[in-house]
Amino acid sequence: MIIYGISANEHDASLAVVRDEDILFASNAERYSRKKNDPHLNEALVADARAYGDPDLIVWYEKPLLKRARKLWAGQHKDVLRTDGSAYLRRFMFDAPVRYVGHHESHAAAGFFTSPFDKAAILVVDAIGEWDTISAWEGCGRSLKKFWSQRYPHSLGLLYSAFTQRVGLKPNEEEYIVMGMAAYGKPIYRDLIWEEFVARFDPPYFVLKENVHRGVRWWRPELQDRENIAASIQKLTEEVLVGLVRWFAKSTSHRNLILTGGLALNCVANSQIAREGLFQNIWIPPNPGDAGSSIGAVAAHTRRHLNWVHPYLGYNIDRPFDIDGALTALKAGKVIGIANGRAEFGPRALGNRSLLTDPRGRFTKDRVNLIKKRELFRPFAPVIMAEHADQYFDMPVKTSPYMQFVASVRHPELFPAISHYDNTARVQTLTYDQHPKLYRLLESFHRETGCPMLLNTSLNIKGEPLVNNWSDAERFATQWGVKIF
Ligand SMILES: [Fe+2]
Repeated sequence: MIIYGISANEHDASLAVVRDEDILFASNAERYSRKKNDPHLNEALVADARAYGDPDLIVWYEKPLLKRARKLWAGQHKDVLRTDGSAYLRRFMFDAPVRYVGHHESHAAAGFFTSPFDKAAILVVDAIGEWDTISAWEGCGRSLKKFWSQRYPHSLGLLYSAFTQRVGLKPNEEEYIVMGMAAYGKPIYRDLIWEEFVARFDPPYFVLKENVHRGVRWWRPELQDRENIAASIQKLTEEVLVGLVRWFAKSTSHRNLILTGGLALNCVANSQIAREGLFQNIWIPPNPGDAGSSIGAVAAHTRRHLNWVHPYLGYNIDRPFDIDGALTALKAGKVIGIANGRAEFGPRALGNRSLLTDPRGRFTKDRVNLIKKRELFRPFAPVIMAEHADQYFDMPVKTSPYMQFVASVRHPELFPAISHYDNTARVQTLTYDQHPKLYRLLESFHRETGCPMLLNTSLNIKGEPLVNNWSDAERFATQWGVKIF
């Protein structure tokens, strides 16, 4: 039986194709339409999905009626008229029956049913779906049960997004930049924000004094030091998340923790949680935000564990990978592109749509920034052979295959391009099984240069999503004179 999972019509659409326990295909819509965070499905994406089989059933990632009720309650009358689910899908000529699962249920299922655990505590934290904004779940075998939840308008995610806008960035999209900016500031407004916005945090209850859904652009216009504001909201967020995890650890006997929902993309907070050591193992799916809920919707419906092998589930660029050529270019200090195999499902480039270079040297960061054209304060990430990670980084977890944790760099002076202002790095650890070709490239680079890591950043033209197909890659190569392998 082929089931399609759909997450769409809000802010970052995606589609997953699942046959029994196998994920055949999963991709964010933006990769095909070339519009960042595209909320809508498109014909090219649907055509690619259909190559894996037509759906016998479609599962929509949330419950439109509940969502409509919440929007009515919140006074978002214009949005209420929007059609979700089957009416939306008819535009794409889908005639299979449609089922609906809860928004947080999709997040929880995306985490639990792709995890290596048979039993786990699952914490979902995001901005808003239907009503829930924070929820705690227990997974055991095929059972997934809600343990507790906090409802709208009390939302940690909405508060973070509101402050994302307050520091001049795009809410629901550029929260990761706030996290990077935070390293440059001091959390001097943490108490002020807490006092003015938080009515109560008595874990798990997190209650706001007011609804921040429409933003806090008005907040204290005299404060213009956005790095300090970023550091303050980041600190408050970390405290609440750690408080929730402590409560969850005390309330259950689970040793495995799963984090999902948009807040699980906050790798600085994830690392704090990991360092608490309250759970033995932590699993965060590589696409924990709403886009990952296309897989989650299917799993929430079937309540079956999926065969999770790797996140390379998208469009396939089928061409040989010239490891020797890539190695020669890297040894010569070149920046190279990789556009090979199936695209990553999730926001991070994990080796199939990546820009790689030697992470050593004073000018590496500038050279890559020239190509990426992004804020100078944002560091690049390293990909390292897993067995060498501890030698170079103080890791909060044993492995970090999807760049979801930050670690202190032991010798930041040797690797300035991958060391953030606070001497941390968002590490991707790599084993042979995760990605044999990239591992072999790293292994050869290590053997010939003594360095077991490479700088790894996403292969995309500024303002565009990750490269998807070969013609996107060629456009990139022409614009920047970067050789693509
Ligand atoms: Fe969500």
